[in-house]
Amino acid sequence: MASYLEELTDPIALKLKANCHNTRYPAGSYRVQPSGCIVTKLYPGHAERLRDFEVREDDIWIVSYPKCGTTWTQELVWMLASGLDYKGGKEVALNQRVPFFEIMTIGSLPPDVLEYFFKLVNSSQNGRRRIFKTHLPRDLLPKQIWTKNPKIIYVSRDPKDAALSYYHHHRLWSGYQGSQEEFLEAFLEDQVLYSPFWKHVLDFWELRTEPNILFNTYEEMKKDLPGVILKTADFLEVSIDMEQVQNLSNHLSFKNMKDNPAVNNEMFAEQERNGADDPNLTFIRQGESGAWKKSMSPEMAERFTQWTESKLKGTDYKIGVSS
Ligand code: A3P
Repeated sequence: MASYLEELTDPIALKLKANCHNTRYPAGSYRVQPSGCIVTKLYPGHAERLRDFEVREDDIWIVSYPKCGTTWTQELVWMLASGLDYKGGKEVALNQRVPFFEIMTIGSLPPDVLEYFFKLVNSSQNGRRRIFKTHLPRDLLPKQIWTKNPKIIYVSRDPKDAALSYYHHHRLWSGYQGSQEEFLEAFLEDQVLYSPFWKHVLDFWELRTEPNILFNTYEEMKKDLPGVILKTADFLEVSIDMEQVQNLSNHLSFKNMKDNPAVNNEMFAEQERNGADDPNLTFIRQGESGAWKKSMSPEMAERFTQWTESKLKGTDYKIGVSS
């Protein structure tokens, strides 16, 4: 079905946009119908190229709604696919090893940086198997995904934690100056970039038993990282022994990821922070499951619970459970 753009006119979306003061990473401007996904004003200029992108059968695609454990999954998958190349992983930044497929639609980047990313996405990534990160929902992925059937790893997270993480993400990257409550309201109303959240998740939940699709959750990564490593290695047909699993778990620990300049995006975050001393203004930030209990009001938490119940009615999806 042909897709078309609808400009966002909802006052909640307009308020969110007005509260985002960093024009380099703008808030959403359009909804792509019929999927309903929110995209920025930069998306239309790249939509066709992204849809027509040539997919390879041996690609690996990491797909997620933002703030659900994408970076964590990127490092895990790259390490498995590279034969645990810890040295290479230190030397090359994660965003070059696993490029963000549609980065040109979320950031107004200088032409030379744009050109660099175009090349990176199209390159063979140094002769290695290509691995991409994308937040595009099922309906907006390249058409060839559904004919070439590359391996796809989807990662999901409790929306209460994802929404709070996304709030701080907006503060850091988009210069968001509105309140937390206003942001969470916009999240619940599906007015933030890449929303609607539940359609994003459930569209892949429906496909979880396809042989080329693996569904993981942030909560299971927190609870049993070695188990998720083993499951992901099995899916990627990579052999790994228990000592290697332990070493990789250690490499992927929150502390080690936070301290690792190749994955923590600190170089960019530092510029955006502009000297502000706020531990929430970091990319690898808190790394907890259920942290919403500390910072979401009981009323808002109840709204999230009700919203989730209504969206999950008729499905067998349970937050945090991948199968
Ligand atoms: P918080 O903001 O709740 O801390 P994404 O990569 O999809 O943007 O997700 C970012 C979230 O994953 C952030 O959540 C970040 O701190 C968390 N994260 C990144 N690496 C992690 C790790 N090794 N362990 C736990 N959480 C991690």
